[in-house]
Amino acid sequence: MSEPEISLLVGSRGAGKTTILNEIIKPATFHIVMTTKPSGFTARQGWKQVTTPDQLLEVLTKNYLSKKLKICLRVLAGPKEKILPIFTLDRVSNLLYQVQDMALRKNMLKPIGLTVDEAHRFYPHHRPKDMDGFDWVISEGREWGIHLIFATQRPTNVPPIFRDNVQNWYVLMLGGDTAIKTIKELVGRSLKTVPQYRYALYRGGILTHEGSTRKPKIVHRLP
Ligand SMILES: Nc1ncnc2c1ncn2[C@@H]1O[C@H](COP(=O)(O)OP(=O)(O)O)[C@@H](O)[C@H]1O
Ligand SMILES: [Mg+2]
Repeated sequence: MSEPEISLLVGSRGAGKTTILNEIIKPATFHIVMTTKPSGFTARQGWKQVTTPDQLLEVLTKNYLSKKLKICLRVLAGPKEKILPIFTLDRVSNLLYQVQDMALRKNMLKPIGLTVDEAHRFYPHHRPKDMDGFDWVISEGREWGIHLIFATQRPTNVPPIFRDNVQNWYVLMLGGDTAIKTIKELVGRSLKTVPQYRYALYRGGILTHEGSTRKPKIVHRLP
């Protein structure tokens, strides 16, 4: 089994983030996706649909030993509901700990993937107090077999604890100078800018691949 890694996809609106996410996690067999949007990760593509952490917990525990389990948690949060996605990721972090630790103690631990689309809504730099359950997933989740993939249009809003632990950077078309400056600081001066629907992948800080968002090269094997 491959080592749990953290991947971050950055790109402006319409760059192709959700498209490439779908492709990257297509081969996954034990995976949770969180999103606020109705597009992608559909029942037709084999994703079980839930809307609350309680439903997620139920489906996860009931099917933990299934060969294949793909769950999409769509948080129904409109423009005014800023806290709900943050609260939901915090809850999901805690329940992942519970489920994975119970499995670990029973010697049945299965590595699991967690993808968060529109991550700036779930884990912005500025959060209400105590909404830090996800910090645990970042810093310690590896031991519990948690692989992470985040996608955001606001790279400047990604908390440093997350950015500092990213192994794989997928850089898509970037919107403005601020985003480009931020990404340059992170992946180095060699930043390759790409047009819409293309990506540049930096693995361990080195430019590894460039290609189409519809046909990304899979460099990290997901559970
Ligand atoms: N490689 C591609 N070639 C053609 N169209 C693409 C490609 N990648 C994405 N698209 C289309 O562009 C639109 C925006 O892509 P999407 O993945 O939703 O962007 P984002 O999530 O970054 O906002 C979608 O309609 C998608 O089907
Ligand atoms: Mg999208």
